[in-house]
Amino acid sequence: AVDIKTLRAGSGIITIDPGYKNTGACESAITYLDGEKGILRYRGYSIEDLAEKATFLEVIYLLIFGELPTSDQLKKFKSDIDDEAIVDQDMKKIIDGFPKYAHPMGVLSSLTSALIAFNPSSVNVASEGDMYKAIVKLLAKFPILVAWTYHKRTGLPLDYGDSSLGYVENFAKMMFQKPNRAYEPNQVVIDALQKLLILHGDHEQNCSTSTVRIVGSSHAGLFASISAGISALWGPLHGGANQAVLEMLEAIKADGGDTKKYMAKAKDKDDPFRLMGFGHRVYKNFDPRARIIKKAADEVLESLGVSDPILDIAKGLEKEALEDQYFVDRKLYPNVDFYSGIIYRALGIPVEMFTVMFALGRLPGWISQWREMRLRNEPIGRPRQVYIGENARDYKDIADR
Ligand code: ACO
Repeated sequence: AVDIKTLRAGSGIITIDPGYKNTGACESAITYLDGEKGILRYRGYSIEDLAEKATFLEVIYLLIFGELPTSDQLKKFKSDIDDEAIVDQDMKKIIDGFPKYAHPMGVLSSLTSALIAFNPSSVNVASEGDMYKAIVKLLAKFPILVAWTYHKRTGLPLDYGDSSLGYVENFAKMMFQKPNRAYEPNQVVIDALQKLLILHGDHEQNCSTSTVRIVGSSHAGLFASISAGISALWGPLHGGANQAVLEMLEAIKADGGDTKKYMAKAKDKDDPFRLMGFGHRVYKNFDPRARIIKKAADEVLESLGVSDPILDIAKGLEKEALEDQYFVDRKLYPNVDFYSGIIYRALGIPVEMFTVMFALGRLPGWISQWREMRLRNEPIGRPRQVYIGENARDYKDIADR
């Protein structure tokens, strides 16, 4: 237990739990997480099995609807998504308005919010059928928006992909196709993307998911709730850590590869620097996703014939941290984002897009948590506070202040 205080305030007792370290906000049947044992399961299935055997689309279905799909269910689901895989041309004008150097997370959050204007019926989710329609629309349009966000920077044309391809295959084509060349899918890239997206699929009541649930609890609608979740994910203490990790590893490399210097900075309480990609609110033993990703990073780099000195720096830092008393005492281990950036980079995805990739992976988790919250008719989220400000005061005229 950490720092819980109960205080008498107004008409009752209020519990103060900064950062909600010990406060459950809901009951949920989606993701099981045991931070001591390093266990993560979606709807009862181990993350190891899903990352090894499933496709991202199967995991999307599993997270949202609770069961792995039969082949007929999967076919129907994909066909419903394909029917909605279009984005209004006018959305391109919104993209045109952003400067080229705009951070892709800001662009993605804005575009997701703008989708509401083009799909106003998505806000009305009175029935499960309405919810399904809104969900399918978002699953169909979101990868297109991610690819457009990317091509805002590359300057390449914004297109709608090819629905005859699988969900991830189509996304890869929208990202990597060059307009003047025939597109050759690379199976190593596709397999790595499937795995990374699955590993990011859901993680119970983290900062962005809690944001999605609380915004959704006001009945603001799915797209608005997800747009808020994207903003929450952006921060470097959450999803933004994957970009921060790579920038940190680059800085260490540019500084001569002196990992010890950065370890010392991370331990110095007068220095705000933290070892990015280390530590987790819930995992206090190891992050099972990090183990899978570390192995995948080795395999992907080898298959693609890429040798990246950053991977060696990362492994060196991990080894030092595992042997360092400061990190051992505080149970700080590499988290999911420590190695993911190394794979993204090997796949040719630029560093500013890393957190956007995380958002694409987390989309089904946010959707499933939003749907669960709405189906359970949860009340509006409205935390309390304990007021510590001034007592009642007399108003002072401006001349007397
Ligand atoms: N480097 C150095 N020290 C750290 C780190 C770190 N990465 N993480 C935590 N600590 C220290 C803190 O300084 C604190 O030390 P103290 O007890 O001496 O004061 C102690 O460990 C506990 O840290 P808290 O910040 O209280 O832990 P909390 O659960 O609030 O934070 C968090 C978890 C935000 C993930 C934190 O570990 C962190 O900032 N890590 C780096 C950023 C990162 O990788 N974020 C991605 C998380 S995974 C995800 O969102 C997908």
